[in-house]
Amino acid sequence: MIEGQESISQIPELKYAMIGGGPGSFIGDVHRKAIAMDGKARLVAGCFSRNYEDTLKTGETLRLDKNRLYRNYEELLQAEARHPDRPDFIVIVTPNDSHYPIARLALELGFPVACDKPLATSSSLAQELADLARQKDLLFCVTYTYSGFPIIKHLRWLISQGELGSVRFVAGEYPQEWLATLVEKTGQRQAAWRTDPARAGISNCVGDIGTHLEHMVSYLTGLEIETLCARLDHFGEGRPLDDNASIMINFKGGGTGLYWCSQIAIGHDNGFRVRIYGTRGAVEWYQEDPNHAKISYLDRPVAYLSRGRDPMCPRAQALSRIPSGHNEGYFEAFANIYSTFLTALDKKLHGQELTADDLDFPQVEEGVRGVKFIEKCVESSEKGAVWVKF
Ligand SMILES: NC(=O)c1ccc[n+]([C@@H]2O[C@H](COP(=O)([O-])OP(=O)(O)OC[C@H]3O[C@@H](n4cnc5c(N)ncnc54)[C@H](O)[C@@H]3O)[C@@H](O)[C@H]2O)c1
Repeated sequence: MIEGQESISQIPELKYAMIGGGPGSFIGDVHRKAIAMDGKARLVAGCFSRNYEDTLKTGETLRLDKNRLYRNYEELLQAEARHPDRPDFIVIVTPNDSHYPIARLALELGFPVACDKPLATSSSLAQELADLARQKDLLFCVTYTYSGFPIIKHLRWLISQGELGSVRFVAGEYPQEWLATLVEKTGQRQAAWRTDPARAGISNCVGDIGTHLEHMVSYLTGLEIETLCARLDHFGEGRPLDDNASIMINFKGGGTGLYWCSQIAIGHDNGFRVRIYGTRGAVEWYQEDPNHAKISYLDRPVAYLSRGRDPMCPRAQALSRIPSGHNEGYFEAFANIYSTFLTALDKKLHGQELTADDLDFPQVEEGVRGVKFIEKCVESSEKGAVWVKF
């Protein structure tokens, strides 16, 4: 298949404000670029940093109105809630400890929210956000990026159709090497807060990347964790939080799983891989080659699915942007999440019914479950790597 797919927005532009994403930060700019990709929303206000000078610098680069650049998130949310050009949603891309207070105030003021993971630093705080969002009837997206890849949508559909039979075993791994040494001591900002319990919460490695494994497996298979047994390692000398974790899972209904996440795995960049084995077939997907997936059946030759070339389910096809052989990656996966969220938001603003496809972006309840997963892994490990109920 060689044709591309135009995804220029048919809907009016929505407006958003961003908190976090200042100079030298990682994910804020990814969110901005992903949102911009489909032209469905534009940035109108920001508090990009706790340092006002840095917020001004980013705001100037993005050509924002200086009057809509704020010293702190409270000021932004209060002022923008009354602004005649009020934003339609708020994007939160700060370190973990500030997600809850920012999201809480945003919801209280009636703003829909897109917040990065992990949703909060405890499941009770995360649950409060979910309850408030439901009570206020506001959409809330938690940006588990990798669920936005078209091939992931297709594999999910395949599994839901029973193509693999019943799932027996899931192997998920997410190795990185970037914390193999104590880079947090060198002033590397992303490492500094991720290894600091005051900012990251009770876990570094499971909270940062293990949570993607939990979300992906749940999204692909629909399986629910019944019990888990985790050992969290702290290999970096003096590091207060985990940098490697081995997690065994029992799913409700019988399947089992094994997850490994690591930031000390030398030789791995962002080696997120998931393998799912059923009674009749198996699938495998690797984040560093996200346009392909391996599909195996007992009674057929192994197939390598190629996005753009091979037929996929309608939902996956709809999110596939360019012809085969032209790789789509992280930005497109992020853009797919935003495109879905923003279409839902726009339809809701116009009083239209939302379909299951409209709501196929990571919901606030998935964020709550992700935080509970982190807590249960820490609880199991602290008790001596014992099985705990989920
Ligand atoms: N979905 C993903 O794939 C993915 C990838 C990376 C990071 N993340 C998540 O995104 C969040 C941010 O991570 P990062 O790596 O971009 O961090 P970062 O340190 O690179 O950037 C954080 C930014 O937030 C700003 N900030 C901090 N506190 C603030 C506050 N109170 N008000 C306004 N701005 C504030 C900082 O100045 C900085 O610009 C984390 O929760 C992380 O887990 C998700």
